[in-house]
Amino acid sequence: MHVYCGSTDSNVSENGKELLLEIVKEDIYPKIVDAFYTSKLIRTIETIAILYPGVEYKSLEEFNEVNFGEYEMQPHEELMKRPEYVKWQEGDKFIHFDCPGGDNFEGVSKRINKGMEKIFTDAKNNGYKNIVIIGGGVGIPPLYFFAKRLAISAKRVNVILGGRNTEALCLKEDISEFANIYLSTDDGSDGFKGNVIDLFKELIISRKIQKPIVYACGPQPMLKALKCYMIENEIEGYFSLEAMMGCGFGMCLACAIEKNSSGNKKQYALCCIDGPVFNFNEMKL
Ligand code: FES
Repeated sequence: MHVYCGSTDSNVSENGKELLLEIVKEDIYPKIVDAFYTSKLIRTIETIAILYPGVEYKSLEEFNEVNFGEYEMQPHEELMKRPEYVKWQEGDKFIHFDCPGGDNFEGVSKRINKGMEKIFTDAKNNGYKNIVIIGGGVGIPPLYFFAKRLAISAKRVNVILGGRNTEALCLKEDISEFANIYLSTDDGSDGFKGNVIDLFKELIISRKIQKPIVYACGPQPMLKALKCYMIENEIEGYFSLEAMMGCGFGMCLACAIEKNSSGNKKQYALCCIDGPVFNFNEMKL
Protein backbone atom coordinates (compact mmCIF):
# COMPACT_ATOMS: atom_id res chain seq x y z
CA MET A 1 0.00 0.00 0.00
CA HIS A 2 1.34 3.46 -0.94
CA VAL A 3 0.24 6.39 1.21
CA TYR A 4 0.74 10.13 0.67
CA CYS A 5 2.73 10.97 3.79
CA GLY A 6 3.83 14.61 3.58
CA SER A 7 3.14 17.08 6.38
CA THR A 8 1.94 14.32 8.75
CA ASP A 9 4.49 14.08 11.54
CA SER A 10 5.26 10.37 11.65
CA ASN A 11 8.31 8.42 12.75
CA VAL A 12 10.62 6.59 10.37
CA SER A 13 9.16 3.10 9.92
CA GLU A 14 11.16 0.08 11.09
CA ASN A 15 11.63 -0.88 7.46
CA GLY A 16 12.84 2.65 6.72
CA LYS A 17 15.36 2.48 9.57
CA GLU A 18 16.75 -0.78 8.23
CA LEU A 19 17.08 0.72 4.76
CA LEU A 20 18.90 3.76 6.13
CA LEU A 21 21.33 1.55 8.05
CA GLU A 22 22.04 -0.33 4.82
CA ILE A 23 22.69 2.97 3.00
CA VAL A 24 25.09 4.07 5.75
CA LYS A 25 27.16 0.94 5.11
CA GLU A 26 27.42 1.86 1.43
CA ASP A 27 29.33 4.96 2.48
CA ILE A 28 27.62 7.19 -0.07
CA TYR A 29 27.04 10.21 2.18
CA PRO A 30 29.85 12.81 2.41
CA LYS A 31 32.09 12.58 5.47
CA ILE A 32 33.00 16.24 5.45
CA VAL A 33 29.99 18.45 6.12
CA ASP A 34 29.95 22.02 7.45
CA ALA A 35 26.39 22.13 8.79
CA PHE A 36 23.23 20.06 8.96
CA TYR A 37 19.62 21.15 8.46
CA THR A 38 16.40 19.18 8.68
CA SER A 39 12.72 19.97 8.50
CA LYS A 40 10.80 20.13 11.78
CA LEU A 41 9.26 16.71 11.26
CA ILE A 42 10.34 13.89 13.54
CA ARG A 43 11.21 11.48 10.73
CA THR A 44 13.79 13.86 9.25
CA ILE A 45 15.37 14.32 12.67
CA GLU A 46 15.43 10.54 13.14
CA THR A 47 16.99 10.17 9.70
CA ILE A 48 19.85 12.55 10.45
CA ALA A 49 20.49 10.72 13.73
CA ILE A 50 20.91 7.48 11.78
CA LEU A 51 23.03 8.92 8.96
CA TYR A 52 25.21 11.19 11.13
CA PRO A 53 24.91 10.08 14.78
CA GLY A 54 25.64 12.77 17.33
CA VAL A 55 25.99 15.76 14.98
CA GLU A 56 24.46 19.15 15.73
CA TYR A 57 21.71 20.24 13.35
CA LYS A 58 19.09 22.93 12.87
CA SER A 59 15.45 22.11 12.19
CA LEU A 60 13.67 24.62 9.96
CA GLU A 61 9.93 24.51 9.32
CA GLU A 62 10.59 26.06 5.89
CA PHE A 63 11.86 22.62 4.88
CA ASN A 64 8.79 20.78 6.14
CA GLU A 65 7.38 18.25 3.72
CA VAL A 66 4.52 19.02 1.31
CA ASN A 67 0.99 19.07 2.72
CA PHE A 68 -1.02 16.82 0.37
CA GLY A 69 -4.30 18.28 1.69
CA GLU A 70 -7.24 15.94 1.03
CA TYR A 71 -4.83 13.22 -0.08
CA GLU A 72 -2.61 13.37 3.00
CA MET A 73 -2.22 9.86 4.47
CA GLN A 74 -4.64 8.45 1.88
CA PRO A 75 -3.64 5.27 0.03
CA HIS A 76 -3.06 5.70 -3.68
CA GLU A 77 -5.04 2.54 -4.41
CA GLU A 78 -8.14 3.96 -2.65
CA LEU A 79 -7.79 7.38 -4.22
CA MET A 80 -7.71 5.83 -7.70
CA LYS A 81 -11.47 5.32 -7.29
CA ARG A 82 -11.91 9.12 -7.38
CA PRO A 83 -11.93 10.60 -10.93
CA GLU A 84 -10.57 14.00 -9.80
CA TYR A 85 -7.62 12.21 -8.20
CA VAL A 86 -6.91 10.22 -11.37
CA LYS A 87 -6.89 13.50 -13.31
CA TRP A 88 -4.63 15.15 -10.71
CA GLN A 89 -2.32 12.19 -10.68
CA GLU A 90 -1.97 12.00 -14.44
CA GLY A 91 -1.45 15.72 -14.91
CA ASP A 92 1.69 17.75 -15.35
CA LYS A 93 4.20 17.18 -12.55
CA PHE A 94 3.88 20.78 -11.36
CA ILE A 95 0.14 20.29 -10.92
CA HIS A 96 1.02 17.46 -8.50
CA PHE A 97 2.02 20.19 -6.11
CA ASP A 98 -1.38 21.82 -6.37
CA CYS A 99 -2.86 19.57 -3.72
CA PRO A 100 -6.58 20.17 -3.04
CA GLY A 101 -6.79 21.75 0.41
CA GLY A 102 -3.00 21.56 0.77
CA ASP A 103 0.21 23.04 -0.62
CA ASN A 104 0.86 24.18 -4.15
CA PHE A 105 4.09 24.41 -6.08
CA GLU A 106 4.44 28.18 -5.77
CA GLY A 107 3.88 28.18 -2.00
CA VAL A 108 6.36 25.36 -1.43
CA SER A 109 8.98 27.04 -3.62
CA LYS A 110 8.65 30.31 -1.70
CA ARG A 111 8.88 28.49 1.64
CA ILE A 112 12.01 26.54 0.65
CA ASN A 113 13.68 29.67 -0.71
CA LYS A 114 13.10 31.30 2.68
CA GLY A 115 14.82 28.32 4.35
CA MET A 116 17.72 28.55 1.92
CA GLU A 117 18.13 32.23 2.78
CA LYS A 118 18.53 31.21 6.44
CA ILE A 119 21.26 28.74 5.46
CA PHE A 120 23.07 31.40 3.43
CA THR A 121 22.87 33.82 6.35
CA ASP A 122 24.31 31.17 8.70
CA ALA A 123 27.10 30.47 6.22
CA LYS A 124 27.87 34.19 5.96
CA ASN A 125 27.86 34.69 9.73
CA ASN A 126 29.76 31.55 10.66
CA GLY A 127 32.15 31.75 7.75
CA TYR A 128 32.46 27.96 7.98
CA LYS A 129 36.17 28.10 8.45
CA ASN A 130 38.37 25.32 7.19
CA ILE A 131 40.02 23.48 10.03
CA VAL A 132 43.72 23.01 9.29
CA ILE A 133 45.71 20.77 11.61
CA ILE A 134 49.47 21.15 11.24
CA GLY A 135 51.79 18.59 12.77
CA GLY A 136 55.54 18.53 12.51
CA GLY A 137 57.65 15.49 13.52
CA VAL A 138 56.95 14.71 17.19
CA GLY A 139 53.84 16.88 16.99
CA ILE A 140 52.00 14.45 14.72
CA PRO A 141 50.80 11.75 17.21
CA PRO A 142 49.06 14.16 19.64
CA LEU A 143 47.06 15.62 16.76
CA TYR A 144 45.79 12.27 15.51
CA PHE A 145 43.02 11.90 18.13
CA PHE A 146 42.00 15.54 17.83
CA ALA A 147 41.69 15.25 14.04
CA LYS A 148 39.71 12.04 14.37
CA ARG A 149 37.32 13.57 16.92
CA LEU A 150 36.64 16.50 14.59
CA ALA A 151 36.12 14.19 11.64
CA ILE A 152 33.57 12.17 13.66
CA SER A 153 31.63 15.39 14.20
CA ALA A 154 31.59 15.55 10.40
CA LYS A 155 33.66 18.71 10.33
CA ARG A 156 35.85 19.52 7.33
CA VAL A 157 39.37 18.61 8.41
CA ASN A 158 42.61 19.29 6.53
CA VAL A 159 45.79 17.86 7.99
CA ILE A 160 49.28 18.99 7.01
CA LEU A 161 52.07 16.75 8.19
CA GLY A 162 55.76 17.46 7.85
CA GLY A 163 58.97 15.63 8.69
CA ARG A 164 62.57 15.11 7.64
CA ASN A 165 61.67 12.21 5.34
CA THR A 166 58.84 9.82 4.55
CA GLU A 167 59.66 7.60 7.59
CA ALA A 168 59.04 10.56 9.89
CA LEU A 169 55.45 10.96 8.64
CA CYS A 170 53.87 8.52 11.07
CA LEU A 171 50.09 7.89 11.01
CA LYS A 172 49.69 9.36 7.52
CA GLU A 173 47.72 6.31 6.27
CA ASP A 174 45.44 6.33 9.35
CA ILE A 175 44.77 10.06 9.10
CA SER A 176 44.10 9.90 5.36
CA GLU A 177 41.10 7.67 6.12
CA PHE A 178 39.13 10.54 7.63
CA ALA A 179 40.79 13.82 6.55
CA ASN A 180 42.22 15.65 3.55
CA ILE A 181 45.92 15.09 4.03
CA TYR A 182 48.90 17.08 2.68
CA LEU A 183 52.49 15.95 3.22
CA SER A 184 55.83 17.69 3.21
CA THR A 185 59.35 16.33 3.68
CA ASP A 186 62.67 18.14 3.89
CA ASP A 187 64.27 15.71 1.41
CA GLY A 188 61.27 15.52 -0.94
CA SER A 189 60.87 11.77 -0.37
CA ASP A 190 57.12 12.23 0.21
CA GLY A 191 54.78 15.01 -0.92
CA PHE A 192 55.90 18.63 -1.07
CA LYS A 193 59.67 19.25 -0.79
CA GLY A 194 60.09 21.73 2.04
CA ASN A 195 58.60 22.36 5.46
CA VAL A 196 54.97 22.43 6.65
CA ILE A 197 54.84 26.21 6.66
CA ASP A 198 55.89 26.50 3.02
CA LEU A 199 53.32 23.84 2.16
CA PHE A 200 50.64 25.68 4.14
CA LYS A 201 51.48 28.92 2.27
CA GLU A 202 51.31 27.04 -1.02
CA LEU A 203 47.85 25.64 -0.17
CA ILE A 204 46.59 29.12 0.74
CA ILE A 205 48.02 30.69 -2.45
CA SER A 206 46.61 27.95 -4.66
CA ARG A 207 43.25 28.38 -2.85
CA LYS A 208 43.11 24.71 -1.95
CA ILE A 209 42.57 25.92 1.60
CA GLN A 210 40.63 29.08 2.29
CA LYS A 211 39.60 30.83 5.51
CA PRO A 212 41.67 28.53 7.72
CA ILE A 213 41.62 28.13 11.46
CA VAL A 214 44.84 26.42 12.52
CA TYR A 215 45.57 23.86 15.23
CA ALA A 216 49.26 23.02 15.42
CA CYS A 217 51.70 20.94 17.39
CA GLY A 218 55.40 20.49 16.69
CA PRO A 219 58.91 21.65 17.46
CA GLN A 220 59.40 25.19 18.80
CA PRO A 221 61.09 26.60 15.64
CA MET A 222 58.19 25.34 13.52
CA LEU A 223 55.60 26.95 15.81
CA LYS A 224 57.59 30.20 15.92
CA ALA A 225 57.73 30.47 12.12
CA LEU A 226 54.06 29.48 11.84
CA LYS A 227 53.12 32.14 14.36
CA CYS A 228 54.84 34.87 12.28
CA TYR A 229 53.03 33.77 9.13
CA MET A 230 49.67 33.58 10.90
CA ILE A 231 50.04 37.05 12.43
CA GLU A 232 51.05 38.55 9.05
CA ASN A 233 48.03 36.97 7.39
CA GLU A 234 45.54 37.44 10.25
CA ILE A 235 44.91 33.73 10.63
CA GLU A 236 43.35 32.46 13.87
CA GLY A 237 44.62 29.40 15.63
CA TYR A 238 45.67 27.37 18.63
CA PHE A 239 48.98 25.68 19.43
CA SER A 240 49.55 22.71 21.67
CA LEU A 241 52.70 23.58 23.61
CA GLU A 242 55.22 21.44 25.42
CA ALA A 243 57.02 22.13 28.70
CA MET A 244 58.94 20.14 31.30
CA MET A 245 56.42 19.02 33.89
CA GLY A 246 57.03 18.07 37.52
CA CYS A 247 53.78 17.72 39.41
CA GLY A 248 51.23 18.02 36.60
CA PHE A 249 48.69 19.88 38.78
CA GLY A 250 49.93 23.46 39.19
CA MET A 251 52.17 23.21 42.28
CA CYS A 252 55.80 23.06 41.13
CA LEU A 253 55.64 25.82 38.47
CA ALA A 254 58.10 23.84 36.33
CA CYS A 255 55.88 24.13 33.27
CA ALA A 256 55.49 27.93 33.25
CA ILE A 257 55.34 29.48 29.75
CA GLU A 258 55.64 33.22 29.24
CA LYS A 259 52.59 35.04 27.94
CA ASN A 260 52.52 38.10 25.74
CA SER A 261 52.01 41.13 27.96
CA SER A 262 51.83 44.81 27.24
CA GLY A 263 53.32 46.03 30.56
CA ASN A 264 56.80 45.54 32.07
CA LYS A 265 55.65 42.75 34.35
CA LYS A 266 56.11 39.29 32.88
CA GLN A 267 53.09 37.02 32.92
CA TYR A 268 53.07 33.24 32.78
CA ALA A 269 50.63 30.41 32.16
CA LEU A 270 51.07 26.87 33.44
CA CYS A 271 51.15 24.34 30.64
CA CYS A 272 49.74 21.58 32.86
CA ILE A 273 46.60 23.34 34.06
CA ASP A 274 46.11 26.33 31.73
CA GLY A 275 47.10 24.41 28.59
CA PRO A 276 48.64 22.63 26.92
CA VAL A 277 46.51 24.20 24.14
CA PHE A 278 46.70 28.00 23.94
CA ASN A 279 45.54 30.67 21.55
CA PHE A 280 48.86 31.08 19.70
CA ASN A 281 48.67 34.84 19.85
CA GLU A 282 48.56 34.96 23.65
CA MET A 283 51.87 33.16 24.16
CA LYS A 284 55.53 34.07 23.70
CA LEU A 285 57.28 31.42 21.67
S1 FES B 1 53.88 20.60 36.14
FE1 FES B 1 53.96 21.42 38.11
S2 FES B 1 52.95 23.30 37.83
FE2 FES B 1 52.79 22.39 35.92
